[in-house]
Amino acid sequence: MEPLADSYGRRIKSMRISITDKCNFRCAYCMPAEGLPWLKKSEILSYEELEHIARVAVSIGIEQIRLTGGEPLVRRDVPEFVRQLRQIEGLRSLSLTTNGILLKQQAKVLAEAGLSRINVSLDSLVREKFAQLTRRDQLERVLEGLAELEKYPSIYPVKINAVAIRGYSEEDVLDFVRFARNKAYVMRWIEFMPLDADQIWCKEDILTGGEIKAIIETQYGPLVPITTGDPSETARRYTFSDGVGEVGFINPVSEPFCAHCDRIRLTADGQLRTCLFATEETDLRAVLRGGKSDEELAATIHQAVWHKELKHYIGDKRFRRANRSMSMIGG
Ligand code: GTP
Ligand code: 5AD
Ligand code: SF4
Repeated sequence: MEPLADSYGRRIKSMRISITDKCNFRCAYCMPAEGLPWLKKSEILSYEELEHIARVAVSIGIEQIRLTGGEPLVRRDVPEFVRQLRQIEGLRSLSLTTNGILLKQQAKVLAEAGLSRINVSLDSLVREKFAQLTRRDQLERVLEGLAELEKYPSIYPVKINAVAIRGYSEEDVLDFVRFARNKAYVMRWIEFMPLDADQIWCKEDILTGGEIKAIIETQYGPLVPITTGDPSETARRYTFSDGVGEVGFINPVSEPFCAHCDRIRLTADGQLRTCLFATEETDLRAVLRGGKSDEELAATIHQAVWHKELKHYIGDKRFRRANRSMSMIGG
């Protein structure tokens, strides 16, 4: 079969699997305070079903899998699922994006299960600000989770993701830089995208990666670009002139990276999304539960990928909001 590619010639190598739509936080840029109507258990794919899709996807060209949520670690037995996925021949990287709150208990078992990399969302190091944005007063537990991770160097690198919001994030930038350089975390800022369930997003709230970079440079001098990365990476990466530490800017709004996108997404209820901002999905659950063969499943994935969206249209009048909010897509 042809390698997995879309009609614009982009090779698709990375699949993000959302394993649950539930979350134990209520970040204002993502979920409403009261939560969302959760998926029913029967709608959610079992680990066996998810592994089946992952295996077929890897057999046709997917090389990297990232587990997301909601908050993935609220689902039971994630380490066991990691172990299952690890056995798929051809899978080169298996990573997790988490809010970190359950890492203190789970870091060890995740490392033992073979998790390669981890990204932890952390929007402020100031307790009150953290509590205000996530609507949970749990900064301490996230920091404990990060500390626990230090014991398991096989999970490397550890990246910290902060959503950047104008009027909220500027004053934390230099604290984050000090924190990350000290602990050897890769620190990244993400531009706020219109994926929040409350639909509060507005252009004025965006604090661009360029602005954050300028704040850092007032203190540290010009950052040095890291150019050795894969062009499909979400972040523009930099180190400091003294070579200590790495920061990254994920700038989907001010510098869209769609032209090099290599990602597809699977939701917890088995819908394949070929763009974060997709308005249509392909129902892989129906294919799987309809008893179709692996060849038919592979052909369905190929077909969906072929029609992958060219780009998002944030800031353009052609922009349409995605048909799900971030917590259901997994970022
Ligand atoms: P690495 O492989 O470690 O670089 O991870 P990642 O940046 O691909 O994943 P992560 O879960 O840490 O995502 C960080 C941010 O990038 C989140 O806000 C994601 O929504 C955003 N992001 C990831 N993929 C895409 C994408 O394809 N399009 C857009 N617009 N944003 C994305
Ligand atoms: N805009 C940008 N990033 C977001 N995330 C969640 N919602 C948004 C949004 N509206 C981030 C989370 C996490 C990642 C998967 O997506 O903070 O780091
Ligand atoms: Fe890829 Fe869509 Fe993200 Fe653009 S918006 S980088 S096409 S997933």
